[in-house]
Amino acid sequence: MPNVVAREIAPPGASKIILSPIPQAAGFARDMIKHRLTCMGRPDLAFVGQLIGCELVTNVLRHVYGYKLDEGIKIFSNRPKFWIDITNQDGIPLIEVWDWSLQTPQKRNYELEESGRGLHMVEDLCLKWGYWLPKLEMGGGKIVWTLLK
Ligand SMILES: Nc1ncnc2c1ncn2[C@@H]1O[C@H](COP(=O)(O)OP(=O)(O)O)[C@@H](O)[C@H]1O
Ligand SMILES: [Mg+2]
Repeated sequence: MPNVVAREIAPPGASKIILSPIPQAAGFARDMIKHRLTCMGRPDLAFVGQLIGCELVTNVLRHVYGYKLDEGIKIFSNRPKFWIDITNQDGIPLIEVWDWSLQTPQKRNYELEESGRGLHMVEDLCLKWGYWLPKLEMGGGKIVWTLLK
């Protein structure tokens, strides 16, 4: 019987959840966000955190991997995965979603469009959001982040 000891404190960098680019990633991210916020003592933020996190993950699926809304699973075995993380920043939960693409999120004027509302919703629901491009030696790509309120 192996001696399995649960880690109570994750080592630095170990809290990211690596996601495969399939539609189920959004549901997985939702569960993870609820779990983490509950562990942080902020289950009250689960609903809004899930809405925001799910939008960011869906954006990666749609705009980086090219999923259409009604599409089933595509096999992307040769494409890089992406990740989501949620951490406690001095009492404020921070959601980060990384993908390898350098294309950045841009709020769109959606008055006459059927899409383009996601980032407006994120902005309304969170304290602050943004993105940055890590250097290549830090993994490259981009991180879209939101601080919850
Ligand atoms: N992770 C991402 N990678 C690349 N482009 C993105 C990403 N997220 C958002 N975008 C860009 O920002 C635009 C606005 O996003 P959003 O407000 O969520 O609208 P929608 O997803 O409905 O197009 C998208 O149309 C896309 O061009
Ligand atoms: Mg969107």
